[in-house]
Amino acid sequence: MDPVKESRQPPKPTAVVTGATQGIGRVLADEFAKHGHTLLLVARNEANLEKAAASIAAAYGVSVHYAACDLATREGCDRVADALDQNGLYCESLVNNAAMMTAGFFQDQDHDALLRTIDLNLRATIDLTRRFLPGMIARGAGGVLNVSSVEGFMPVPYQATYAATKAAMISWSRALAYEVMGTGVRVCTVAPGPVVTDIHANAGSENSRYMLYYPQMAPEVLAEASYRRFMRGNWVILEGWLNKIAAVAVRFVPGFFLIPTSGWFFQVRDADGNPQLPKPLEHPDAPEADRHKK
Ligand SMILES: NC(=O)c1ccc[n+]([C@@H]2O[C@H](COP(=O)([O-])OP(=O)(O)OC[C@H]3O[C@@H](n4cnc5c(N)ncnc54)[C@H](OP(=O)(O)O)[C@@H]3O)[C@@H](O)[C@H]2O)c1
Repeated sequence: MDPVKESRQPPKPTAVVTGATQGIGRVLADEFAKHGHTLLLVARNEANLEKAAASIAAAYGVSVHYAACDLATREGCDRVADALDQNGLYCESLVNNAAMMTAGFFQDQDHDALLRTIDLNLRATIDLTRRFLPGMIARGAGGVLNVSSVEGFMPVPYQATYAATKAAMISWSRALAYEVMGTGVRVCTVAPGPVVTDIHANAGSENSRYMLYYPQMAPEVLAEASYRRFMRGNWVILEGWLNKIAAVAVRFVPGFFLIPTSGWFFQVRDADGNPQLPKPLEHPDAPEADRHKK
């Protein structure tokens, strides 16, 4: 196409889906494509992005772009905005889905991984939303779908930091949903229970009791319900009867019962079910132990 004519074309509305190469993000991208949205997929691994983009474009006949970047960094979020500009797109729907999970005793978890969890799960969500929400409000259309977790409704020992990012996301998302009322823009949060993806094994929690006793949902079921209810404008999306009960029940269960029960479900275990024990720590007075350094 004539580059001058091309540059005059108005930007195309696009659904930006973060963490779109696997798991829930991948099927959410399918769901948006199925409904005719142009897509910008975001993740770190470029080869996986290329594969996902080609497969979605072939299956649904929509334009699929991608941006390879680490959203745990500010530069990664800049890259998403640049990719939209470079491809003549604007963000009509933002799906804040990319996240990482860490599990185990807090003091034994990798210091950098804990900080990256906050940066990816929370800071990138707020950063991307701050970039794209004003445009949505100005146009009076579009929305932000925040993928949180049912863990965000309660304290979760052994996944304390991950669950806290999800709790913050739910609180923040509901507050924003109120602020944008009447603008034509939707802000929603979906709070899934366990879904069949790699996130638990990557965190080392695949043998925890919640994985054994809590029913796991197929990502496709979650994605279909999330898209439908996002378009309808639900503030909080809970799919599955147990998740609905859990999200309401935790408000009435006293902490002295709720937190140990949560700990019983979430403690990291080996394949034989033995609980992980905390690693022995150096006594603070030992000369080789400097507890204030990483
Ligand atoms: N699975 C569950 O049981 C469950 C339950 C409740 C809520 N959730 C939430 O659902 C969402 C998706 O979870 P999932 O289980 O589908 O996760 P997943 O299978 O681990 O997929 C994570 C996706 O995020 C991308 N990603 C990871 N780190 C990134 C980074 N720093 N920058 C950019 N992209 C990054 C990954 O691609 P790259 O590695 O290439 O970057 C991948 O595409 C998360 O918000 C999670 O908290 C999941």
